[in-house]
Amino acid sequence: MISFASFCVIFTILFTKIPSVKSQSLPPNGELSFSPRLLDSVLQDYAFRAFSRHRPRTGVVYDGNVPSNLTGCTVSAVRLRSGSLRKRGFHGYKEFDIPKGILENPYVERVILVYHYLGNWSSVYYPLPGYSFLTPVVGLLAYNAVNLTAKGLPELDLRVSENPILIKFENLGVWPDGVLPKCVFFDLFGGVEFDRLLNGSICSSVTQGHFGIVVEERMPAPVPAPPKMPEYPIAGGEGSGGGGGRKKGWWVGGSVAGGVLLAALLVVLVLWVRWCSGRKRIGKMKDAAEGGAPLTVAAVGRAKVPVAMGTRTKPILENEYVS
Ligand SMILES: *[C@@H]1O[C@H](CO)[C@@H](O)[C@H](O)[C@H]1NC(C)=O
Ligand SMILES: *[C@@H]1O[C@H](CO)[C@@H](O)[C@H](O)[C@H]1NC(C)=O
Ligand SMILES: *[C@@H]1O[C@H](CO)[C@@H](O)[C@H](O)[C@H]1NC(C)=O
Ligand SMILES: *[C@@H]1O[C@H](CO)[C@@H](O)[C@H](O)[C@H]1NC(C)=O
Repeated sequence: MISFASFCVIFTILFTKIPSVKSQSLPPNGELSFSPRLLDSVLQDYAFRAFSRHRPRTGVVYDGNVPSNLTGCTVSAVRLRSGSLRKRGFHGYKEFDIPKGILENPYVERVILVYHYLGNWSSVYYPLPGYSFLTPVVGLLAYNAVNLTAKGLPELDLRVSENPILIKFENLGVWPDGVLPKCVFFDLFGGVEFDRLLNGSICSSVTQGHFGIVVEERMPAPVPAPPKMPEYPIAGGEGSGGGGGRKKGWWVGGSVAGGVLLAALLVVLVLWVRWCSGRKRIGKMKDAAEGGAPLTVAAVGRAKVPVAMGTRTKPILENEYVS
């Protein structure tokens, strides 16, 4: 019966590992090839290179080039004195309308505001399951302007102290009736927030990051799924993930169902193992009975089998699990 114990252990490990291996192996691959933060870093470099082709003037927007593997994206950069940004803001920087009262941390004398337009790469770098983009994703990031050839620069922390930054989108795609377009904001730390749209096509923000307008996709098929979701409170835990929660719900539901099934299988296995060893013992007991020792009889399932005392079975079980 040694093989049975190990079989049980292997069985349990196999069946509990498979779902977690699957759910863990997908995101790292996606992040490796399409990491938004890696993109920010590459685009910072390419945006700064725009200055080297000119004698950079403060307050002038320079458009940069992007590497050929990012065709479809565009970058721009503008260098501003912090004091001027705080006093006057910077209006009409592509989609962005930057109000006065902007504070950056740590304080630097001059800042470079880098603009990203992700075009057809929007949903590659910022996938939102369950939503479709009505606009490309655009980004605004602030850097220290002290070294125009710096690479891999960290962003400055940018905050508004009075009015919010406005992002004025021009051409929204078409969307089906009955769904409400929403603003989506991706912060620099992987967080996602949804907000209401102002005046039909304007988003607002108190800080830097990436922005777009999305609508929830109408899912035609999985209608029976949503009513089951509330049974698993874990599914709601990933609140900031937005559409991701629905998929998570499926996973959780699947693994709960799998767990129940597994537990049932294990119970059957354990009963079977017991039954097997019971039969073995019956053999021994028959021998013992000939010697005249009385044994308790109990019902296991439908069969009446002689049952040995717990103390007699313990050493056997311990040996089985150790080996
Ligand atoms: C694109 O190519 C550049 C080099 O030309 C490389 O540094 C960068 O990592 C590549 N980016 C992507 C997203 O493949
Ligand atoms: C975006 O379009 C360009 C050509 O305009 C293409 O080279 C690039 O592969 C496209 N990107 C994606 C993610 O489809
Ligand atoms: C600017 O950054 C580049 C690249 O990181 C570095 O080689 C250079 O020394 C820096 N220049 C100054 C003045 O810090
Ligand atoms: C929305 O439109 C109203 C009226 O045209 C205007 O007063 C308001 O400033 C607009 N809001 C934004 C955020 O642009």
